[in-house]
Amino acid sequence: MMSTRTTADPGPAGMLRIAPSVLSADFGTLADAVSTVTPGSDWLHVDVMDGHFVPNISIGPPVVASLAAHTDLYLDCHLMISDPGAYLEPFARAGADGVTVHAEVGELDHVIAEARALGLRIGLAANPDTEFEAIDRYLDAVDLVLCMTVFPGFGGQAFMPEVLPKIKQVRAAIDERGLAVDLEVDGGIDLATAPVVVAAGANVLVAGSAVFGADDPLAAAVALADAARS
Ligand code: DX5
Ligand code: ZN
Repeated sequence: MMSTRTTADPGPAGMLRIAPSVLSADFGTLADAVSTVTPGSDWLHVDVMDGHFVPNISIGPPVVASLAAHTDLYLDCHLMISDPGAYLEPFARAGADGVTVHAEVGELDHVIAEARALGLRIGLAANPDTEFEAIDRYLDAVDLVLCMTVFPGFGGQAFMPEVLPKIKQVRAAIDERGLAVDLEVDGGIDLATAPVVVAAGANVLVAGSAVFGADDPLAAAVALADAARS
């Protein structure tokens, strides 16, 4: 399916944003789940897993296309896949607004250039044990850095506080260089960890189970934003 949706505005870099992860939503009623949280959401985080880069399989371009037809939220596609370069065009055609690729898959200059050529915003993700240096060399070339606060693959895992020094390091580098780069965190973000990651310098908070696992997902998203500002 080719998306007819116009590109969603990501908003200014550095602004606090809540990005619920649909990985924890009921895939059978996905459009309803997204509508429910939309008033309390800035972006929608879409977790793409290939069963190779991570030991789990989730969703791909057809689901992004279906979501794009149902929402105006910015579609923040987290590509946990070994060969992101092979799939950028299908995601762009499906209506993705931004794609985030992992530093661990190898050299990314071509992937970054191709994403830009396709009109996608481009993010760089780093696993909890990936050093700042792997991010540093691409910092001037990307729109977003994603510091994983769990090892990717599954929702509902415990936040890893040992990633906080790297989040601070990325924030310091972004600010020192005056870059328009968002700093996203993903994994175990909830009411308790949201203020901690914001204090460390994160400005885009992904939350799966803390939003869609709650009895009232909209109230949970709003509460998360409140906690992040506290
Ligand atoms: C994990 C995914 C996350 C996941 C987060 O591999 O990248 O986006 O949905 O889930 P929670 O918020 O439950 O840790
Ligand atoms: Zn994710």
